[in-house]
Amino acid sequence: MDIAEEDSTLSRVQEILWAGGIGDPQCESERIVHAARRISRDALHERALAMARKRASGSPLSYVLGRQRFMGIEIAVKDGVLIPRSETELLGWEAVARLREASSEDARPVRVIDMCCGSGNLACGIAQAVPKASVWASDLMEDCALLALRNIHSLGFEGRVHVTFGDLFAPLEAAGVRACDVVVCNPPYISSSRLHRERRDLLTHEPRQAFDGGPYGLSIYQRLVHEAAPFLRPGGSLLLEMGVGQAPSLERLLKRCGHYDRVELVPDPQGELRVAAARRL
Ligand SMILES: C[S@@+](CC[C@H](N)C(=O)[O-])C[C@H]1O[C@@H](n2cnc3c(N)ncnc32)[C@H](O)[C@@H]1O
Repeated sequence: MDIAEEDSTLSRVQEILWAGGIGDPQCESERIVHAARRISRDALHERALAMARKRASGSPLSYVLGRQRFMGIEIAVKDGVLIPRSETELLGWEAVARLREASSEDARPVRVIDMCCGSGNLACGIAQAVPKASVWASDLMEDCALLALRNIHSLGFEGRVHVTFGDLFAPLEAAGVRACDVVVCNPPYISSSRLHRERRDLLTHEPRQAFDGGPYGLSIYQRLVHEAAPFLRPGGSLLLEMGVGQAPSLERLLKRCGHYDRVELVPDPQGELRVAAARRL
């Protein structure tokens, strides 16, 4: 395809986005054509137009491009798997800080579980930032595990990041994983009723199992605080992302369950408490 043909593709993509009411058609059209070119130079025009139509019909840009940046790396994303959110980077960097501290104490490799891994964004972000980390990533959905595997391969973390799928820790129990330094988890935490009434928009493009945290949004946390404990070494950390306003309930759960001796609540840059960190007894 020559420059004139590529220019006409760019204009056509812009028109489609404009007609679809997309906020910044110029910037997005360039990103779409760039992404289409990376997939295939041969069918660039057809592919770019198909991507523009998907975007104009309301699909999130990350699904259209098939990529999202997270903790400084490019993560492949696809329909049916949650798009990594920038707010989750707080959880990732908290894990990295604790792992660096643990690995500076002695020369041993550090061990991490990324529970409810989705695309594997936290597992890969942590593996990138902590070269001495071995990571086990797991999700209920086979589709998530397959995408996580794809990300691990394309980022070169084979042999250091492992993937399983199944209900919470069951597959890790079967794999004999034990004595981890950190268990990190961004679980579904929106209450079913709020998801139905106020946040239905989330379900238009992304899967329910990524958001639905049961009657009070706490169902997975209630299991996690107990089920994570046998996988942590004494002094290891359970790190959980939480929704705005959930800090008091989660703090109570962590303090009362009897497996942890110190609970910290970490604010985001806006001052909202978004991460709970508990130290294993
Ligand atoms: C909020 S998403 C987080 C995805 C990813 N870790 C991230 O930060 O973008 C929650 C994930 O939990 C998974 N999940 C829900 N219930 C689960 C369960 N019982 N066991 C394991 N994973 C579960 C969902 O499939 C979804 O991928």
